[in-house]
Amino acid sequence: MTLPARVFKNPRARHNFKGRTCSIVSVGSYIPDRVLSNADLEKMVDTTDEWILTRTGIKERRIAAQHQATSDLAAKAARAALERAHISPNEIDLIILATITPDMPFPSTACLVQEKIGAKKAAAFDIQAACSGFIFALEIGQQFIMSRTCDTILVIGAEKLSSIVNWTDRNTCVLFGDGAGAAILRYRPNAHGLLTACMGSDGARAGLLCLPGGGSAFPASHETVASGLHFLRMDGREAYKNAVTAMYTAAREALRRCELDISQIHCIIPHQANRRIIDTVAQRLGAKPEQLFVNLETRGNTSAASVAIALDEAVRGKRIQRGDLVLLIVFGAGLTWGAAVIEW
Ligand SMILES: CC(C)(COP(=O)(O)OP(=O)(O)OC[C@H]1O[C@@H](n2cnc3c(N)ncnc32)[C@H](O)[C@@H]1OP(=O)(O)O)[C@@H](O)C(=O)NCCC(=O)NCCS
Repeated sequence: MTLPARVFKNPRARHNFKGRTCSIVSVGSYIPDRVLSNADLEKMVDTTDEWILTRTGIKERRIAAQHQATSDLAAKAARAALERAHISPNEIDLIILATITPDMPFPSTACLVQEKIGAKKAAAFDIQAACSGFIFALEIGQQFIMSRTCDTILVIGAEKLSSIVNWTDRNTCVLFGDGAGAAILRYRPNAHGLLTACMGSDGARAGLLCLPGGGSAFPASHETVASGLHFLRMDGREAYKNAVTAMYTAAREALRRCELDISQIHCIIPHQANRRIIDTVAQRLGAKPEQLFVNLETRGNTSAASVAIALDEAVRGKRIQRGDLVLLIVFGAGLTWGAAVIEW
């Protein structure tokens, strides 16, 4: 199928651009079988289905089995993306995996995935940008494709957040879920692909959302475990306010770089953290509700996997067609944020 040529002033987005562009040629995802509903949580902490639904938009989330580590979820998502594109694991040059719940502090979870999927010639490393990780990983991968350093890159966002959530803390445990999403990056002639990806960080607000224990600052000890430093901690209200501002600003910047108006975007995939955050950002951007893709209700917040899973589900659900303009918007701990515009 030949698509009508779209003209962008952004040089990277021109078909006669001299360099290589980077396209997502395939996506895949995996979510664990076990459903944890709001009704289940009512039996675990002092909460109600009504509170969770009205404050967050979440009805249920998926929880990985005890024997499943993040690399298992990631490998399943990767295999799905590879199969869909008829690409052999041997063709992968590089694996970039974004996660805040690696199997172990080292080696990288990307190396464990390399072994699991049999991507023998791939180099592999993890990146850590919390819930913004998938866009950060896409942008890194894009640089390797555009510079001709690599031809085929596997980018994964994968999390087993259930392993770092305090299941007695109602402020946080209702929000998160497990899962993984993967994308294959390649140069695709005559396609714009990833038009832009912008990223930002603010370490001054690192304390808003963090896991304090188990690193070099507070190495694991009886004391760190007794004080619960090995659990995720969050200032929900501040995270909320910062998320709205950062996601709006990142999205505006990505659109500005591509000289696009929000009305030209076919599908907006925001980080799936809270329905109220998503709706406020969309409203400020002037987006229509039908432009949004939201799977938060059944997935919860899966951090680095969030937009990766949503992208796969949007593609499989035919919400995104070849040639459509897609806007991804993320926000996470760090703080970190970003937005990407893709011509599918
Ligand atoms: C966490 C969040 C849902 C809380 O919603 P909120 O409207 O801000 O609620 P508040 O924090 O003001 O808390 C209101 C009350 O509900 C209570 N509450 C918190 N969690 C609850 C739960 N699961 N069930 C019932 N009550 C709960 C609080 O204790 C508080 O009670 P208090 O007023 O007696 O102290 C919301 O702040 C949020 O989504 N923040 C962003 C989190 C996020 O996305 N983080 C990840 C970013 S990548």
